[in-house]
Amino acid sequence: MSKRFYITTAIDYVNGEPHLGHAYEKVVADVIARFHRSRGVETFFLTGLDEHGQKVQQTAAAKGRDPQAYCDELADIWQGMAAKLELTNDDFIRTTQARHKEFVKAVLSKLHAEGQIYKKLYEGFYSTKEETFLTEKDRLPDGSFPAMYGEVTKLQEENYYFRLKNHQQWLIDYIESTPGFVEPDYRRNEVLGFLKNNELEDLCISRPLARLNWGIPLPFDPGFVTYVWFDALSNYASMPASAGDPVLKDFATSADSRGLSLWPADIHVIGKDILKFHAVYWPIMLRAANLPLPRKLLVHGWWQKDGEKMSKSTGNVVDPIKVIEEWGVDAFRFYVIRELDIGPDGNWTDGGFKARYSAELANGLGNLVNRSLSMLKRYRNGVVPPLSRELSAETEKIIADTRSHLEANHLQAALGSIWSLITRANQYVNQTAPFKLAKDPAQAARLDEVLYNLAEICRILGVLLWPFLPRTACNIYSQLGLAETPNQNKDATWGGLAPGHAIGTPAPLFPRKDP
Ligand code: MSP
Repeated sequence: MSKRFYITTAIDYVNGEPHLGHAYEKVVADVIARFHRSRGVETFFLTGLDEHGQKVQQTAAAKGRDPQAYCDELADIWQGMAAKLELTNDDFIRTTQARHKEFVKAVLSKLHAEGQIYKKLYEGFYSTKEETFLTEKDRLPDGSFPAMYGEVTKLQEENYYFRLKNHQQWLIDYIESTPGFVEPDYRRNEVLGFLKNNELEDLCISRPLARLNWGIPLPFDPGFVTYVWFDALSNYASMPASAGDPVLKDFATSADSRGLSLWPADIHVIGKDILKFHAVYWPIMLRAANLPLPRKLLVHGWWQKDGEKMSKSTGNVVDPIKVIEEWGVDAFRFYVIRELDIGPDGNWTDGGFKARYSAELANGLGNLVNRSLSMLKRYRNGVVPPLSRELSAETEKIIADTRSHLEANHLQAALGSIWSLITRANQYVNQTAPFKLAKDPAQAARLDEVLYNLAEICRILGVLLWPFLPRTACNIYSQLGLAETPNQNKDATWGGLAPGHAIGTPAPLFPRKDP
């Protein structure tokens, strides 16, 4: 059993509404997973839900619901979004599943037995309203605490702590000597800056039952549940451990029969706000448990809507499902990847979305495929002419560029390369004017060449686009009369379209919408 390429996303809080930000991250991971599979690499893609914590407990209680039943209902909505986005995730982890809870308990037991987790009495300022301890950093300049915390009192509480202090230096050394561990580079520098300028405090990993009961009970003290981050981060390993991963055999849980070899993860795709948890706490947890670290954290920025933070209260949340229902899943997948590079923050505007749809999808890609195949149908009865290599060198160069961008997880740049081929081919139609060639019987051989080059570029576009726009890619293949799915990247090689082959029926890929 050889190790698979293993890619994960953050697991979303079940009680929030699925929005553009969550959907974006999942599409990023899906494109990377599909690309690796299309290169013949055995790949495993995991996403899921973070279901424990105070908010779920409170909302379920306010609704008079059992928290598990409440989570189950919300989980349907989230899994529905995954399906709408046409994600190819191989599993869906929920932190309330037995396989996950057993793993968390096994790790906690080991760390506790080894003295890496200890109990301590803590005295601090506590906000009853927000149910959280505050620190000096939370004070306003005048020394008071912000009004949002309500009444703040001194409180003593016992909790369990995970020793972090001894881990600081090796982690700094590791990140410095492993350049690809956090990408992009500026996020890596952010983590190094944090680690070099702050002394790590031991991490509180429990909550007393009196304050929180919707969580995983500590295996060594039933009066406490596990604090959400220790619980949530473990999902990346709990699922493989339950599926028989040999690296995680010390923590094997109620195994299913898949016999997977996944750990360490090759890529955790996460947002910038949860970088510290993934780049500091998670590696330390793994090291303490004597497990290998993930190979890469790929950190994306945040989407805004019309220059403002998306929030339910201002009503400016972009609902991916609505966009997909109106414009199609590929239009959504295309826009988010084309518009925003992995790293910086992005801004969604409906105008920007429509402009890209119309210029790049309908007029760019759609127009190219439609006119190329319609002309082949009209002038050659849909039969592919003899092989021509007029545009093969240029196309092969773009194929190579697209691959190397994808290998570096530069998804936006990869789409940029693919669109340079579309632009080039549309120019070629204008320059060679096949509609004029068709009027002159002496130009029949030239028209054959032009039509071959255009049809072959359409086929190659189907292959290159598959990780990004899977439906469109399949649609191009079926219009070309090709029965296979364009999911093999090796097929992006000039000359795949056989002379004499009869294509299918051309139809617009992206219907133009009235303004
Ligand atoms: N449950 C934790 C993650 C635990 S991972 C072990 C969490 N959940 S979340 O629902 O708040 O966020 C899930 C992911 O969505 C995070 O990676 C977060 O950065 C991302 N996004 C949430 N809002 C976003 C935007 N507005 N834009 C882009 N991504 C955003 O954090």
